[in-house]
Amino acid sequence: MKTQDQMKMAAAKKAVQYIPDNAIIGVGTGSTVNFLIDELATIRDRIDGAVSSSEATTARLKAIGIPVYELNSVGDLEVYIDGADEINHHLHMIKGGGGALTREKIVAAASRQLVCIADEAKLVQKLGAFPLPVEVLPMARSLVARKLVKLGGHPEWRQDYVTDNGNIILDVHGLNIMAPVEMEETINHIPGVICCGLFARRHADVLLLGRADGTVQVL
Ligand code: 5RP
Repeated sequence: MKTQDQMKMAAAKKAVQYIPDNAIIGVGTGSTVNFLIDELATIRDRIDGAVSSSEATTARLKAIGIPVYELNSVGDLEVYIDGADEINHHLHMIKGGGGALTREKIVAAASRQLVCIADEAKLVQKLGAFPLPVEVLPMARSLVARKLVKLGGHPEWRQDYVTDNGNIILDVHGLNIMAPVEMEETINHIPGVICCGLFARRHADVLLLGRADGTVQVL
């Protein structure tokens, strides 16, 4: 039986196969991505650079000598590799447990292939057991919270936390996410919402799932 970290590490190692030579790649955020960054250190010579989804990832990439570029100064990316808090069999995801959801969604939208790396606990039949992170402009916090309650959720203000963009996060418990694409659009249309952590419109293209038996399943 592998531990959760060993499963994350196995998925991250496999992701290296999806990185083309001499490309600028998109790099996500979180503990699974941190294992990926460890792998990137071993193939640094064949990576031209990265676009990062958070200040935390930027610091790690720079520490291993990978140049980090602004998305505005590069074109579309060949590949973006990131983790997930939950992912279903349609490869719709909930992301944002680490709070980087908005930049993650932007980099994902700029990338031709989105590779999700995760341990097997992240694969679910239905999204929503993990509270859905929603990044909100601070002045709109209570308005957005009331609208989320009308959608059936129980928003909780993430304490002592400010996003890299200077906003707050509402973690929404108890949403019944029967139709992820529609739910993503509905929440994104609430005034004051910067971004919700549903990645259903732009879902993953490939899931590399680290299993307890030591294998990595490709879905
Ligand atoms: C950060 C994210 C992460 O991808 C997600 O929280 C998964 O994290 P971990 O790899 O630590 O389980 O969306 O905003």
